Amino acid sequence: MSVLAALYPAIKPLLFQLDPELAHTVTVKSMILAHQLGMLGSMDPGSRSVECLGLKFPNALGLAAGMDKSASAVDAWGSLGFGFVEVGTLTPRPQPGNPKPRLFRLPEHRALINRMGFNNVGIHAAVERLKKRTTKAIVGVNIGKNFDTPNDKAVDDYLYCLKAAYEVADYVAVNISSPNTKGLRDLQGEESMRTLIGALKTEQVKLSQQHGKHVPIVVKIAPDLEDLHIEALGRVFNELAVEGIIATNTTISRTAVIGHALEKEAGGLSGAPVTQRSTEVIKAFRSLLRPEIPIIGVGGIMNGRDALDKLNAGASLVQIYSGLVYAGPALIHDVLEAIR
Ligand SMILES: Cc1cc2nc3c(=O)[nH]c(=O)nc-3n(C[C@H](O)[C@H](O)[C@H](O)COP(=O)(O)O)c2cc1C
Repeated sequence: MSVLAALYPAIKPLLFQLDPELAHTVTVKSMILAHQLGMLGSMDPGSRSVECLGLKFPNALGLAAGMDKSASAVDAWGSLGFGFVEVGTLTPRPQPGNPKPRLFRLPEHRALINRMGFNNVGIHAAVERLKKRTTKAIVGVNIGKNFDTPNDKAVDDYLYCLKAAYEVADYVAVNISSPNTKGLRDLQGEESMRTLIGALKTEQVKLSQQHGKHVPIVVKIAPDLEDLHIEALGRVFNELAVEGIIATNTTISRTAVIGHALEKEAGGLSGAPVTQRSTEVIKAFRSLLRPEIPIIGVGGIMNGRDALDKLNAGASLVQIYSGLVYAGPALIHDVLEAIR
């Protein structure tokens, strides 16, 4: 286990005194420093590699999108033990995101509410950073649209990001499920999805010839989908031969946190309250999707058991975010141990 994992229980009460976004910045900066000083160690040599999406993942555990929105610490995340790191969401132009405060802790529920709004340095700056990476971890680039791009022009933003990211990405994740960009989740409608995926697939063929490599494209979906909608999407994904899906993003439901002082804060809820729902969505998609289409399971993995539940529900890989805030880097070790 890394020094950081061992220290986290002592540091956590101090971090939890800070504003959540400041705590995030302090933690990531300390982690980068610890990595530069060689204090994070290197990837767990006992990890089991996984073949998925035509790629060889050093292990099945990834960092979920949103933790490293601007690709500032990929090598450090790799050293902490992640088999893959998904950076972003990145948009064509840099943008500041929503006004602060926009990130809230609900410790009683081991949950977070966020309405960050895709604050990021823009796809080009992130690509430059990714060119310099040295980690063996697989790197996914999660792409979205700028907040002021209307939905009828959204395809252009995704195409722009796909083209820019193609050179450096091991896979590209299409985020149409964040609740904090107006209208974004409407892109999950059957027709919008066909248009978007169709356009991205056509471009992917051109790019693979141009770059001499195939970069798989996966789609990240919300947990707040009705059964009929899930069935419709399953059909679309099969028909369009989507290469993988990520299930799930944060939820707009507040059922699990009713009565909490922060219940009414707008944004996506993550952590323990989404554990079960995201596993149900994985199960539903697993029974609908052709077996060769893998699922990356994410949502409320707070311990090794939760990760196993997602794998047993049909996920091939898993990702964590909120669990890291509550359990610290020891969660990485826990999940890898459980998988082993
Ligand atoms: C503060 C915060 C920011 C996030 N930003 C993004 C994002 O930019 N893009 C994205 O696809 N998902 C984003 N997510 C969603 C996570 O990647 C993940 O799908 C979700 O939080 C559920 O996993 P968890 O319960 O382990 O946190 C964000 C989550 C949090 C908590």
